[in-house]
Amino acid sequence: MWLLAASVLLGALRAGSAQLILVGTSIIERNDCNATVVLPCYVTNLEQNNEKVMFVTWKKQGNTIFSYRGETKKTNTDPAFSSARFLSQVDLVKGVASLVLSSAQATVGNYSCEVTESNREGEVKMELRNSSVVSCGDETPEEKCGSWFLLVERAVMISLVCSLVILCAAQLTVIGLKYEIESQKKVCTIVALVIFAVVAGVGAALFIQDGYTVQNQAGLGLMVIPAVIVIPLQYVMFGIAFDSLMQATLALIGLKLLGFIIAVVGFALCVPVCPPLHGSVLIAGLAIMAIASLLSLVYVNGLRIMGSRMKDHPRPGKAVEEPLNDAKGVMLE
Ligand SMILES: *[C@@H]1O[C@H](CO)[C@@H](O)[C@H](O)[C@H]1NC(C)=O
Ligand SMILES: *[C@@H]1O[C@H](CO)[C@@H](O)[C@H](O)[C@H]1NC(C)=O
Ligand SMILES: *[C@@H]1O[C@H](CO)[C@@H](O)[C@H](O)[C@H]1NC(C)=O
Repeated sequence: MWLLAASVLLGALRAGSAQLILVGTSIIERNDCNATVVLPCYVTNLEQNNEKVMFVTWKKQGNTIFSYRGETKKTNTDPAFSSARFLSQVDLVKGVASLVLSSAQATVGNYSCEVTESNREGEVKMELRNSSVVSCGDETPEEKCGSWFLLVERAVMISLVCSLVILCAAQLTVIGLKYEIESQKKVCTIVALVIFAVVAGVGAALFIQDGYTVQNQAGLGLMVIPAVIVIPLQYVMFGIAFDSLMQATLALIGLKLLGFIIAVVGFALCVPVCPPLHGSVLIAGLAIMAIASLLSLVYVNGLRIMGSRMKDHPRPGKAVEEPLNDAKGVMLE
């Protein structure tokens, strides 16, 4: 009787000591705003709290993606999961075996965390899913809540930057047709515009993609920051078209500058936040720049039509001054 009780007790002890208890979260949700994804895994009954006797393996769908041997301090990582690392290496001895993955590498699927301490071991399984949140406030149900910018916002921003380039090019063409431009000035303005178009194009290609990654952020930066070029460009173009910069032209340049400042402030507010709360500021800034470009084009073009009598007068030349000013008067009315 006594022996039986002892053996049952011993058996229970051995069974207990052979198992590590691991806890995690059975279902983990990720969304586009997660730059990294944390797969939680905690051991609640470590006895030795000694890294040297620990061995941790993370698997996805049964394949090892990350393993760590405490004895050698050696980490093995599947190349497809190169971003994998412990949430906190120093807390491993306290039982924290949680894994961090970059969002791009944390593909949906079933993951498992296995921890061994000497001869005791345990496992916990979890499923990583895309966020089930499909609607968010007033947004249409098709749009995910947890994304950086909605597709329509991205499309609007890219369209605005495109129109900025096109309107500048149109203005340059109109001015080029009407006035003689020094070849050096011509080359410089065209090169500046082409560089802006190319950089913004690269930015748009990075930005249009789903996600909230460094690429998306850099893409938006490449579209917004270099837009500053259109301000000196506008100054140069007005300088070619008009002998002196009048109030109206200075106001148009000022409007462009204001738009740019608003856009940069919006950009700075949007970059660190997902989902962005101030996307409208950025869009408003770009829209103001595009409107200023459109008005400048109309102004340059309008002056060309209204002041058709200037056609006979080559530029530069003081003789042009008078009719030009008349034309300006007409414009301003
Ligand atoms: C993703 O981010 C949300 C909120 O920022 C957070 O609650 C969630 O735990 C993150 N998901 C993962 C898998 O890390
Ligand atoms: C993960 O496992 C659950 C149940 O264990 C299963 O329903 C689901 O389809 C699995 N997911 C994948 C991506 O294999
Ligand atoms: C989950 O979301 C990612 C990125 O948003 C996407 O690439 C992937 O196809 C989605 N997977 C599923 C199963 O919906």
